[in-house]
Amino acid sequence: MNRLEYTDLVETVRQHDIAYYVEANPMLSDREYDVLYRQLLDTEKAHPDWIAADSPTQKVGGQALSHFEQREHAVPMLSLDNTYSLDELTAFVQRVIKGLDGERPVMTVDPKVDGVAVSIRYENGKLIHGVTRGDGSKGDDITENLKTLKELPTLLPDAPEVLEVRGEVFMSHAGFQRMNRQREAKGETPFANARNATAGTLKLLDSRQVAQRPLSIVLYGTGAVTVGAVDSQTQLRALLLSLRLPVSEWFQEVKNETELLAAIAELDKLRQTLPYPTDGAVIKVNRLDLREKLGFTAKAPRWAIAYKFEAEQVDTRLRQVTLQVGRTGTVTPVAELEPVQVSGTTVSRATLHNFKEIARKDIREGDWVVIEKAGEIIPAVVEVRAGLRSGAEKEIVTPTVCPACGGPLVQENVFLRCMHPGCPAQVRRALQHFAHRGAMDIEGLGQAVVDQLVDHELVCRVDDLYLLEVEQVQALERMGAKSAQNLIDGIEASKAQPLWRLIFGLGIPHVGSGLARQLEQSFASLDQLAAASIEDLELIDDVGDIVATSIHDFFAAAEHRELLAALLGHGLNFESQWSGREEVAAAGAIAGKKFVITGTLSEPRDAFKEKILQSGGKVSGSVSKKTDYLLAGESAGSKLEQARKLGVRILSEAEFEKLAQAESPA
Ligand code: IVH
Repeated sequence: MNRLEYTDLVETVRQHDIAYYVEANPMLSDREYDVLYRQLLDTEKAHPDWIAADSPTQKVGGQALSHFEQREHAVPMLSLDNTYSLDELTAFVQRVIKGLDGERPVMTVDPKVDGVAVSIRYENGKLIHGVTRGDGSKGDDITENLKTLKELPTLLPDAPEVLEVRGEVFMSHAGFQRMNRQREAKGETPFANARNATAGTLKLLDSRQVAQRPLSIVLYGTGAVTVGAVDSQTQLRALLLSLRLPVSEWFQEVKNETELLAAIAELDKLRQTLPYPTDGAVIKVNRLDLREKLGFTAKAPRWAIAYKFEAEQVDTRLRQVTLQVGRTGTVTPVAELEPVQVSGTTVSRATLHNFKEIARKDIREGDWVVIEKAGEIIPAVVEVRAGLRSGAEKEIVTPTVCPACGGPLVQENVFLRCMHPGCPAQVRRALQHFAHRGAMDIEGLGQAVVDQLVDHELVCRVDDLYLLEVEQVQALERMGAKSAQNLIDGIEASKAQPLWRLIFGLGIPHVGSGLARQLEQSFASLDQLAAASIEDLELIDDVGDIVATSIHDFFAAAEHRELLAALLGHGLNFESQWSGREEVAAAGAIAGKKFVITGTLSEPRDAFKEKILQSGGKVSGSVSKKTDYLLAGESAGSKLEQARKLGVRILSEAEFEKLAQAESPA
């Protein structure tokens, strides 16, 4: 694999993550996804210098965001080994006994909570900070957000001197549904599932917003604790209960394997009644001194294991296959089922992923199928009961035209994609991208409004936005006079946005917001960019032939030329804010220089990034020979090492500020 193919693979996996987690509309089976993901991992192992900061692999376990301060965990937050097999569970118990020189320890069983892991530190009874797992050794300081949880008092008068409690933040099923109904009523996009909603909420920078979301927490462990405060899991539970901190309602001590298996079976039966999603049982050695004796492997303790319950499988009938056009124009088949109860909810639709998968499993309309809800997320059709066929089942034909617009479909790998630019499904997606916060930032133009604008054919292409009248907007559902006027004002205001926002908003394949900024710096106007040759484009840093060709082809297409002419006609800003400023920019110390930012600084990294970009510099995610400066804050790690190795100049925050001052033109 070459580097460009790698970049493409990163993008592909990211699209699948969005389809799965954000849109709840997976286009690949888990197996197909795993193959791609594995390929990505292998490539990155072979070429560590290629690893893109935004690669999905870099997010595993939730990499810390730049907006929150980073905080080191006093005791690392490790993950658990897990298994679906009772044989492996027995093997685990045998290993534990061997590790304890033949002693059979008391073990505990508690529910494995499927939420977002956090660690909260109390010192002298005062809540000092709360941190996400992050990469296990350091995470985001989300103290303010965690303080909004009703279950976590800021003062715990009787707590040990140091008490770090660990647990899982979650949204109850009921709270999640209520919140989504409210969001929909307000025209906001509902969340795909409770876990994503929880993770998203904890990442909000404004804790007042967090306070309005139905978050809860359940605690099951500790980080650093005053010596002698607790000596077992059972004591920890008693301590947490006495402090009135939330623990799971179900917990058992077991002395042998018979009791262990009985406990697991009991939990499996009652887990539907718990307020949080539970996908397994966690089995731990009870006594802390024995845990110490057993120790850890590289990533998990030797004294605990998670036993995961099989996803519940249910038989039902596949009535019909319908087609769904995703935001990227991808057409996916959906199974319409005779409604059945699975894992506590009624399921009437399931994803069939793609047509190759249908062919592989030989799924037909009218078939009896086995469906499964894995990880509480999206139900899937697992297999067909071919033996139950009557002969009346109908084969599923791969469509050749788009169900939304009738345009031709093109096969791309396993997907079918509608290529018709006027397709309502794609107009919807284009509009959402154009309006979103990172692009043209048009307030009030959320998914619900976009859907209505497209459904009522008020907008058939992005530029139609600028023709909207306030009366037309007001006639939409749930749209008052005031919000209609606000939307019109927002659309009007967007005409003056800096050029890079427009470039990014156009949705040119391979052009993210960073490259859009670079393009604005490299061309005096959108017209000049549109007229650039592939060779011109390749002169820009980070633009190789795939990206250059993509930009060139985009502007070469007649429909995009028409779109640009229309946007210009509506008075959108096509001028680069840098044009005519070359002399100033070139004179500065930052202009044209490549920066990498790392470590903890006095302000969020984005603030520094903005400063550098404003001064005509560039910011990239990884240190290479081409890097001019590394801006290094506190506890900088591997990037600092790399910079030292390559002889890249390292700036402290103070040194950077000096450079920036020298920069500012008189
Ligand atoms: S104890 C050293 N108990 O699941 C790790 N973890 O997949 C000891 N989790 O890292 C963790 N429920 O974030 C423990 N009852 C429970 C849990 C639990 C959920 C999380 C935890 C862990 C992850 C492993």
